[in-house]
Amino acid sequence: ASTAKFFVGGNWKCNGTHASVEKLVADLNAGDVPADIDIVVAPPFIYIDYVRANIKGAYAVAAQNCWMKPDGAFTGEISAEMMDDAGVPWVITGHSERRLLLGESNRTVGLKTGHALEAGLSVIACVGETLEQRNGGNLYHTLDLQLQALFENVQDWGKVVIAYEPVWAIGTGVVASPEQAQEVHAYVRKVLGDRLGKATSEGIRIIYGGSVTDANCAELATQDDIDGFLVGGASLKAPAFINICNARG
Ligand code: G3P
Repeated sequence: ASTAKFFVGGNWKCNGTHASVEKLVADLNAGDVPADIDIVVAPPFIYIDYVRANIKGAYAVAAQNCWMKPDGAFTGEISAEMMDDAGVPWVITGHSERRLLLGESNRTVGLKTGHALEAGLSVIACVGETLEQRNGGNLYHTLDLQLQALFENVQDWGKVVIAYEPVWAIGTGVVASPEQAQEVHAYVRKVLGDRLGKATSEGIRIIYGGSVTDANCAELATQDDIDGFLVGGASLKAPAFINICNARG
């Protein structure tokens, strides 16, 4: 079980135009969200500064990725130090799209996470299994390896949120059942507890991602170890995202 503050992230992925981002920000600004939760939206890099400057105070911004080293000769990359300098307090690491499409290994994700924390950012670190891994009996082994890479690189767990995103649920409309999600969240919490102690593990947010909508979020949010959501598609529609922010009523 958890004692942590509810957390909702919106991962906009590689979507949007300047006009659609302006509209989304205006629509989010017009809606009511609870004051006692954390809400973070992650626009594509090129729109982050606009969103940061124009979205209302209830929302913080995140980057969707960062580089694993300070500034230097890394063409096309953006450092965590630059994000800190630009007033971007959060970054997502280890999203399965980066793991699978860009070949990011557990080691890379661990290094990026550790470096972002050193640069002063808070991190949403993603873990999760493919359908093949789950069906092959490798769910927990996959998670163990992903978490191990985090243990090797994270000192300050107070600034880390773990997002459990089963790959088979991402963008598919096939949401994990509340029981399926709770089972994995409880496992992640147990692994955290074994490594960091029970009190620390209970304060770490473990959020669920994968086909979360305003129709399925309330039931998921009742589960003991689900401390919030990382939302993809539904985060691009302000009314749906606002409803998800209000999942706990
Ligand atoms: O990071 C959020 C994500 O991968 C889930 O995407 O579209 O299934 O909500 P979606």
